[in-house]
Amino acid sequence: MPLRRRDILQGLAVAGLAPVPGRSAAPEPPALPVPPLVELQPGVPATLTARVGATEFFPGKPSPTAGYNGSLLGPTLRVRSGDEVALEVRNELPEATTVHWHGLLVPATADGGPHDPIEPGAGWKAVLPVRQPASTCWYHPHPHGRTGLQVYGGLAGMLIVTDREEQALGLPSRYGVDDLPLLLQDKVFDRGQRLIYPRGPMALMHGVHGNTLLVNGVRAPRAAVPAGLVRLRLLNGANARVYDLAFEDGRSFHWIASDGGLLREPVPLQRLPLAPAQRAEILVDFSDARPALLVNRTPAAVQPLLHFAPAGERRPTALPRKLASWQTPSRGAVAQRRRLTMTTGMEGTGGMQGMHGMPMPHGFDGKPFDMARIDQRVKLGDVEVWEVSALPGMMMDQPHPFHMHGVHFEVLRRDGQPPGPLDAGRRDTVLVQEAVELLVHFTQPAPRVPFMYHCHILEHEDAGMMGQFTVT
Ligand code: C2O
Ligand code: CU
Ligand code: CU
Repeated sequence: MPLRRRDILQGLAVAGLAPVPGRSAAPEPPALPVPPLVELQPGVPATLTARVGATEFFPGKPSPTAGYNGSLLGPTLRVRSGDEVALEVRNELPEATTVHWHGLLVPATADGGPHDPIEPGAGWKAVLPVRQPASTCWYHPHPHGRTGLQVYGGLAGMLIVTDREEQALGLPSRYGVDDLPLLLQDKVFDRGQRLIYPRGPMALMHGVHGNTLLVNGVRAPRAAVPAGLVRLRLLNGANARVYDLAFEDGRSFHWIASDGGLLREPVPLQRLPLAPAQRAEILVDFSDARPALLVNRTPAAVQPLLHFAPAGERRPTALPRKLASWQTPSRGAVAQRRRLTMTTGMEGTGGMQGMHGMPMPHGFDGKPFDMARIDQRVKLGDVEVWEVSALPGMMMDQPHPFHMHGVHFEVLRRDGQPPGPLDAGRRDTVLVQEAVELLVHFTQPAPRVPFMYHCHILEHEDAGMMGQFTVT
């Protein structure tokens, strides 16, 4: 049956949970697809066209998907800090969308949140004054109530900011060679190996967790890499899954950047948790030329993500001892403290149904998102402490990835204690299981169009676990 334009919406909106499809007998892993690189230049607007298409995640089994300038995912955009660049977004989807630059510090009018819908057939022009440190960011749709489905359907891409300080470090930066963009997602396939988007109480409660892991849209691919130091830009683009990344052989690697850019110094690790929407850059030493396998660990299994096949001349690796210097705003400067609680619709209501037999919406402090309500008002330039916690509900020991638009923050405390090494760095998304205290610096204006804060489990966000703030 030929795929039609509307299939992305109709074909994916199938209820019910799917069993794990049979393991493919493919002996040779497919090559890692590297999205095309688009260098953004001032004065040369780039175009992103959101459209539907079809993707064969399993050979001979096309599924309806969506992508930017293609049928799945989108190009990697790269921009130099200090440049002001323009993007023209075209919407060829059969429904409204928006494009949000997750991690970019730009004024709210350019942020692409739910207040900036692009109707089908229409376009939107974003001018992005990029003035932030080198970092790995991304872009994805943000239409209220439809973000989960659109991202899941394939609308997501990476956005890399470079700057002089980072370039001077000599880190691996040959795109697609020793600097690899890795977009991690998991999706549900039915017995017929077709993509489905499960709905229903389980999806609403926990978010959609896939039965199949994908890297750049492909199952357990293989990357040919030089036998030296390789930089991986890891982006958790999944709707709900928290990844626990490691190498199968237990080798250690160096964590060098969080959401907001380079850490002060490399951190040696053997495991790296990555929550939805978070990014991490790591350096891996392949100079021993031994094949390696990046995996996701769960309590029950070790799931293959990406095979590495190092080849070529072995090159000794040198790691910079210092990466970046940046100042933490002084705590004396804190203008205000705010307290926010992420609440699920199931608390204290006897299960998945609300008091009156209806599922209750997710929210903050018991209130679901309301586009017409400003939840917080902040002064431009202020430093604040946001204390964010999550109410444990029935069967809900699940942590929530809390994300804020238009800011970087640092984790000051977790569960009342100074945070551990994994909370280092500047970020825009933090996993809230224990209560966290965040030191937030508001540098971007949002006088009329507000910025969002929300759970980045997209089914929670779509169901109302989102609030908005102005910055004036
Ligand atoms: Cu990645 Cu409000 O989003
Ligand atoms: Cu964002
Ligand atoms: Cu959540």
